[in-house]
Amino acid sequence: MSDTRTILMLDGDGIGPEVMRETRRVIGWFSRHGGTGYELSDGLVGGASYDAHGEPLTDETLKLAADADAVLLGAVGGPQWEDLAFDKKPERGLLGLRKELGLFANLRPAVVFEALAGASTLKTDVVAGLDMMIVRELTGGIYFGEPRGVEELPDGTRKGVNSLTYTSGEVERIARVAFELAMKRGRKLCSVDKANVLECTLMWRQTMEQVHADYPNVELSHMYVDNAAMQLVRNPKQFDVMVTTNMFGDILSDCAAMLTGSLGMLPSASLGEKSAEGRVPGMYEPVHGSAPDIAGKGMANPLATMLSFAMMLRYSFDDGASAETLEGAVKKVLAGGARTADIMETGARQVSTTEIGDAVLAELEKTGP
Ligand code: IPM
Ligand code: MG
Repeated sequence: MSDTRTILMLDGDGIGPEVMRETRRVIGWFSRHGGTGYELSDGLVGGASYDAHGEPLTDETLKLAADADAVLLGAVGGPQWEDLAFDKKPERGLLGLRKELGLFANLRPAVVFEALAGASTLKTDVVAGLDMMIVRELTGGIYFGEPRGVEELPDGTRKGVNSLTYTSGEVERIARVAFELAMKRGRKLCSVDKANVLECTLMWRQTMEQVHADYPNVELSHMYVDNAAMQLVRNPKQFDVMVTTNMFGDILSDCAAMLTGSLGMLPSASLGEKSAEGRVPGMYEPVHGSAPDIAGKGMANPLATMLSFAMMLRYSFDDGASAETLEGAVKKVLAGGARTADIMETGARQVSTTEIGDAVLAELEKTGP
């Protein structure tokens, strides 16, 4: 019996529409060849939404996102929107979706593809074979804590405030996501905090310890964030799963992405709480940004968006087999020497966004579903 799932496609800004276009072709292929049909709808977010409606995220887009089985997002932002007020900036669209859909768990894999190990700025033997997962808390912490803002002081100077807040409940639910993932991987979890200075993250550490009691087969360690940043570049392969707060995760995941030498290759998933019917709300997006400098030139790398769809198959649609088919096709395309400009190296063949899409589809045809 064939099943239908709905996906909301939010192209966004910059190279968003280009990388999403190639990914639509891949989704179409799985619709035709797998047991599940994917019905796509479209919405506006970020600068594209601001230009059309004066808001980076409308109620209409939010409703479409809440009603869809999963959301795939290209990228948001660009120089033409940089001077807008804070609540109108394209990034607010992204933050609004995360918050309103309750997507508290952000999964950011840092994987070094064999064919690209030489592309890292670090020595090849430090990064070759790296396969780690950063689990970033996404709807709490200093990004959303109150009070916040900038106030005028009586002496005419200004005071800026942002608050780092977590409840133990928020820490516990992200801990469970991380422990569950560790169980399916190498059973090692490193929790990153600043418990020597910030009370809030001492509570984070204590809560991690409590949840650990339910996962005795996972080895739990703790690391201060400054040390974690250093260890990531010193010896990243010591990590399997890393779990951390919203802001530490924002910073460390960029660092981890750079280890792979190819930001253009990394997907991500933002997941919510499993519903009573077992449905996990999820939004999937490439880690790279909107790259306005190359937008519209046919140079963008669509592989991270395709790999984000693979994560959707795995985490929202429980179809790990199709995810592996797609990931395998991407690896073969890289092994065949085709490269977009961002991952170009001597001896490789530089191809356009569409050509790399063609190559992935050709690999899928060869392998079959
Ligand atoms: C990310 C980005 C966002 C964040 C910005 C664009 C709001 O840096 O997804 O890592 O800080 O979360
Ligand atoms: Mg970031």
